[in-house]
Amino acid sequence: MDQAEQLRNIIKQQSLNYKFARVITVTSGKGGVGKSNLSVNLAIQLSKLGKRVIVLDADFGLANVEVMLGIRPQYNLADLIFRGKSLQDIITDGPERIGFISGGSGIQELTNLTKDQIIFLTQKLYELDELADVIIIDTGAGINDSVLEFVTASSEVLLVATPEPTSLTDAYALLKTLNRKAEFIAENTSIKIVANRVESVDEANQLFNKLNVVVNKFLSIKIDFLGAIPQDSNVSKAVIQQKPYSLLYPNSPSSKAVSELANRLCENTPKKANSIGSGIAQLFSNILRSKTKR
Ligand SMILES: Nc1ncnc2c1ncn2[C@@H]1O[C@H](COP(=O)(O)OP(=O)(O)OP(=O)(O)O)[C@@H](O)[C@H]1O
Ligand SMILES: [Mg+2]
Repeated sequence: MDQAEQLRNIIKQQSLNYKFARVITVTSGKGGVGKSNLSVNLAIQLSKLGKRVIVLDADFGLANVEVMLGIRPQYNLADLIFRGKSLQDIITDGPERIGFISGGSGIQELTNLTKDQIIFLTQKLYELDELADVIIIDTGAGINDSVLEFVTASSEVLLVATPEPTSLTDAYALLKTLNRKAEFIAENTSIKIVANRVESVDEANQLFNKLNVVVNKFLSIKIDFLGAIPQDSNVSKAVIQQKPYSLLYPNSPSSKAVSELANRLCENTPKKANSIGSGIAQLFSNILRSKTKR
């Protein structure tokens, strides 16, 4: 039995009586457009709606989320895989009952895992699926392999873009690269656009329409518009204080907007959620499978 087949068997065995978390992968073409702020504040709003939320920082380059939350996790995903730490050890408590997991070097090392480590990790991720209702993955920016692997393996993606022309062209470039990937199956992935730092509703609609026109014309991908977050000086003020804006400034325009996004996400649960083929264990095994094929 090869490694991929073994993984499929574990998944089959576990899928019978199994609760899957809804996994939302947050990404962008260009860096610095607001992914980490969206991930953290969306997590807080979803938690306020009664969901158990965990944020996974999959951007191994920069410790984004921890800086934003002003917390320093003791352990990360690599400690779970290689150093005998438990799932509880690597989940750090954040504000408003959200949990936080730092990917650390664990994300890069996914390529180097032995068969036993893969099986162990997959089982731990099944436990994580049981623990969480929603898992938000904050990815790095740009069209690098690691980001694309997460997006390809995800069933729900939030693609953040700002009205800056380069942000829009880079968002399109990401979709174009995705469209070319053999492992990417458009029907299995819902891609929702979040327009960040907009000055008006019109500007947000224009941003989506511009992107949607070229995507429809040239790619076999469908995108939807989730909503917008306005340009709001409270965001950078909160970043400086290392506290999420939705807690520091709950009545600010950005907080109200992110709360609306959370409501909209809850109203429209993807068809695949809570069925076979979803969840964080499945997502990682998709990634691991594509790695073992190479
Ligand atoms: N809605 C907003 N209004 C005003 N400023 C914002 C808004 N969203 C983000 N910013 C600014 O953009 C900066 C970058 O945001 P953030 O770190 O969330 O982006 P990112 O996409 O995660 O970046 P990276 O690609 O480096 O991970 C913030 O520190 C903040 O100053
Ligand atoms: Mg970030």
